[in-house]
Amino acid sequence: MTLLHNISRTLQRRRNASWHALGYDTQVRPETPADYTAVEQLTYDAFNHDAEVRLIKTLRQQPGSISLVAGQHGKLVGHILFSVAHLADHAEITLMALAPMAVTNVLQHQGIGSALVRAGLELCRERGAAAVVVLGHPDYYPRFGFSPASHFNLRCPWQVPDNTFMLLPLNPAALKGRSGQVLYHPAFAEL
Ligand SMILES: CC(C)(COP(=O)(O)OP(=O)(O)OC[C@H]1O[C@@H](n2cnc3c(N)ncnc32)[C@H](O)[C@@H]1OP(=O)(O)O)[C@@H](O)C(=O)NCCC(=O)NCCS
Repeated sequence: MTLLHNISRTLQRRRNASWHALGYDTQVRPETPADYTAVEQLTYDAFNHDAEVRLIKTLRQQPGSISLVAGQHGKLVGHILFSVAHLADHAEITLMALAPMAVTNVLQHQGIGSALVRAGLELCRERGAAAVVVLGHPDYYPRFGFSPASHFNLRCPWQVPDNTFMLLPLNPAALKGRSGQVLYHPAFAEL
């Protein structure tokens, strides 16, 4: 079965299970080239500068990247990207890095971001990633099961407060006994 089939099947299951619980007709699906302009515009509007837009342009083309969009009534309202990351000296481990994500300003705090995160995490799990890492707000990501990566002896490549670099183990056995620095795609260095 192809990757696209897998994604469609997973997203269909998720839609049936919970998307409508948001109270809006919110649908999450893989990004297509037809979405690029709208994704870049909403990302620019959410961050108010274009570094994240440049990052998306690079990362969405990388092998293994997962780029999902949320739509409401045919309008694109959110986007999330997961890119492949590695653990220094442990080439056998595949991690996924969550970043960036954005929701249309006026539609934030309605659960759209959560829907994107959950759909993406499920795909990362199906792909066999050992864990997902995120550098973000410590009040937001723990609700999905993230906790400080330092608890797993994994380090962020940048100097950041300990509780902002978080990890969600998807395959705890694969992480066992492994430690070190997480290696993001080089495009992150330009942020
Ligand atoms: C971060 C971001 C993507 C989150 O998206 P979002 O759609 O607002 O996220 P959610 O709605 O899932 O969760 C946000 C809040 O809404 C609450 N919420 C979730 N579902 C809700 C619902 N149905 N009704 C009301 N509130 C809800 C959540 O509890 C959460 O509350 P809290 O964080 O204040 O405790 C969005 O705020 C954004 O685009 N920010 C600017 C860009 C950015 O900073 N991106 C992250 C770094 S890459």
